[in-house]
Amino acid sequence: MKKIAVLTSGGDAPGMNAAIRAVVRYGIGMGMEVMGVERGLQGLIDNAFIPMNMRSVSDIIHRGGTILKTARCPEFKTEEGQQKAIANLRKNGVEGLIVIGGDGSFMGAKAMTDRGFPSIGIPGTIDNDLAYTEYTLGFDTACNTILDAINKIRDTMSSHERVSIIEVMGRNCGDLALYCGMCGGAEVIIVPEHPLTIDEIVETLGGGQAHGKTSGIIVLAEGAGHADDLKAELGSRTDMTIKSTKLGHLQRGGSPSCRDRYLGTCFGVHAVKLLQKGIGNRIVGIKNNKIYDMDIIEGVAMKKNFDTELYETAQIVSR
Ligand code: ADP
Ligand code: F6P
Repeated sequence: MKKIAVLTSGGDAPGMNAAIRAVVRYGIGMGMEVMGVERGLQGLIDNAFIPMNMRSVSDIIHRGGTILKTARCPEFKTEEGQQKAIANLRKNGVEGLIVIGGDGSFMGAKAMTDRGFPSIGIPGTIDNDLAYTEYTLGFDTACNTILDAINKIRDTMSSHERVSIIEVMGRNCGDLALYCGMCGGAEVIIVPEHPLTIDEIVETLGGGQAHGKTSGIIVLAEGAGHADDLKAELGSRTDMTIKSTKLGHLQRGGSPSCRDRYLGTCFGVHAVKLLQKGIGNRIVGIKNNKIYDMDIIEGVAMKKNFDTELYETAQIVSR
């Protein structure tokens, strides 16, 4: 291929810029022309193509978010939207597309390939909710941001002898809550994959009090409930003062960690290598610490297994 395009779609994630930078610089280095598409799949429909050069991606490796902007685009689920996208890609002389995003965006990439336009997906979402890859771009940075917030809240909970419920993102996946709960020393971790009853939560907090704990942290995944609702329920069941914090969009931005920059770079280069060989319909990921790729449909259809062993370990070490 002589000309390729790259876009970011769905929720932004730290590390997306590292992937864009790698696609642009590796692609140009291999003699290709590279176009950026603004505002994700919407930009394909709106013909928002911009030619990229080596300097277009200067000074971005350390920046969170995405320089190409991102969007959610309902029109892309329609045949008409997809046809418009293909027409614009062809009008701009583009032969292959790289989509950086989550499983929704991958369905967009799959639709492009089905219509004869080779497309590759790179996993970019803080949720780490894709089964085919051990890791999605942004997860590590988001974990570190959440841990920083937990540390700060812990200081206050400990000083005032209170319990704090901290609600974190993740959509229907409990990975952010699990890893941050364990590494933040939470007494209780509540995830959609392992729901707890109020009785179980009260019992765990009571057990901690009996062992001399005077404060506590509960990490709640957004897919398992709302911090304010849980606070109201717990308030009437314990003599401890309960506080709640929803971290919200604080978790999604920020300068990418080393891991997100490293993997963004490796995923970007791998995706360009596939297009160089004329291969489409693949998603890039990491398995057993090796960068690899697999069929989009097979990858998206895989069901993510919850790490029950890790969840149990977190419970044991928080007593
Ligand atoms: P993510 O990529 O992070 O999972 P979304 O689920 O919001 O984020 O999906 C991003 C975009 O992908 C959607 O706004 C839509 O444009 C596109 N998309 C989602 N599902 C499909 C589908 N079945 N077919 C085509 N495009 C889709
Ligand atoms: O997919 C990333 C994510 O941050 C989820 O964790 C969260 O549920 C969702 O996006 C929030 O979306 P928005 O920023 O559109 O409110």
